[in-house]
Amino acid sequence: MYLLSRLMVKALGVVTPLIHLPKPFSFVGPGASLSMTREIIGTGARRVLVITDAALFKLGLANPVIAELQAAGVTVEVFSEVQPDPGFELVMAGVAHVGRYQPDAVIAIGGGSPIDCAKAILLCHANACHPRTLKGLWLYALPRKRTLPFYVIPTTAGTGSEVTIIAIVSDNANHTKIPIIDPKMVPSMMALDPQLMVGLPGFITAPTGMDALTHAVEACISTLATDETDALALAAAASIVKNLPIAYSNGQDLEARERLAVASCMAGLAFTRAAVGYVHAFSHQLGGIYHIPHGLINAIVLPYVLEFSKSHCTRKLAKLARAAGLGKAESSDMELSDAFIALIRKMNRDMSIPGSIQQLQRSDFPTIIDRAFSEAHGTYGVPRYLSRAQAVALLEQFLPGA
Ligand SMILES: [Fe+2]
Repeated sequence: MYLLSRLMVKALGVVTPLIHLPKPFSFVGPGASLSMTREIIGTGARRVLVITDAALFKLGLANPVIAELQAAGVTVEVFSEVQPDPGFELVMAGVAHVGRYQPDAVIAIGGGSPIDCAKAILLCHANACHPRTLKGLWLYALPRKRTLPFYVIPTTAGTGSEVTIIAIVSDNANHTKIPIIDPKMVPSMMALDPQLMVGLPGFITAPTGMDALTHAVEACISTLATDETDALALAAAASIVKNLPIAYSNGQDLEARERLAVASCMAGLAFTRAAVGYVHAFSHQLGGIYHIPHGLINAIVLPYVLEFSKSHCTRKLAKLARAAGLGKAESSDMELSDAFIALIRKMNRDMSIPGSIQQLQRSDFPTIIDRAFSEAHGTYGVPRYLSRAQAVALLEQFLPGA
């Protein structure tokens, strides 16, 4: 089954380790955002554009960074129109804003949406194109122009977008999301500042943290995984299962917030090389159609995809279980795999993540499956391929009342 997809993934496994993936210079710890800002000032930037979302801007999260820039005589303008799941229109509005303001540096401050939106804006601006034309994995081999100097301050620990070569943009007319992939979108510096994360409520901490865990798990079980991505993914998963419950129950815990932010980056580095899998392939379609937060769908879908895949990735799931401190010395790999999946289900329950998708309609199954297969097959190193009948059975488990 899926011979061509398997061959394409095999080819990717040969080609992608040869591609240089840039990593941003990192500032980590309380006050890291201001340390990075001083470094940006030191580069000689005189006109900075801050890209963020309206809610964060209203909360004043960007104010200390803006004040630091202005105190050094830097002119600052803010593009705060970013919405969750940014679409083509928003990206093009941002491109127009960059064209008018002509900044010499751009700082994205926020969760996955502002960071992905900023990445897409900068790549479209540099190449004078529409985001639609940037879709796809193979296109990034085409010569594209470099973006303006770009810096990122994430305010959630989840997407890992601050280190990845990918940006997800919504095609609202077609109710889908498209991946834009290009190493030129990786920022040159990033700051993981836990002080900007302590105000996050539990209902955001939980799904964003589960998104990061999904990145680590899907990278680990991917057939594209390497020794390097395994080390990153296992360390990230171990840290997330330990620190996410702490940050969820006590949002003010600076240490747990910082460890989660670092783990989210490690998971991002792992999947930017090893790719994700069916959880993301289905999550992108479900999110595009029903507008449910990305991390929430991942958290719901993850244990079911692992249950389906475990016969083909038992050894990797057992490694994840051991990294999470589960099992005994004499436990078999299958026992450990089951324990790891049970842990994910328990984390979901403890953080009030539902087990079904209320909006899901059976009539949407064909579209969801077509699009998920189109995204995953030939691109992701899924350990076990789904047939259409198995995909229908998978989706049926998310129907309300299933
Ligand atoms: Fe994700």
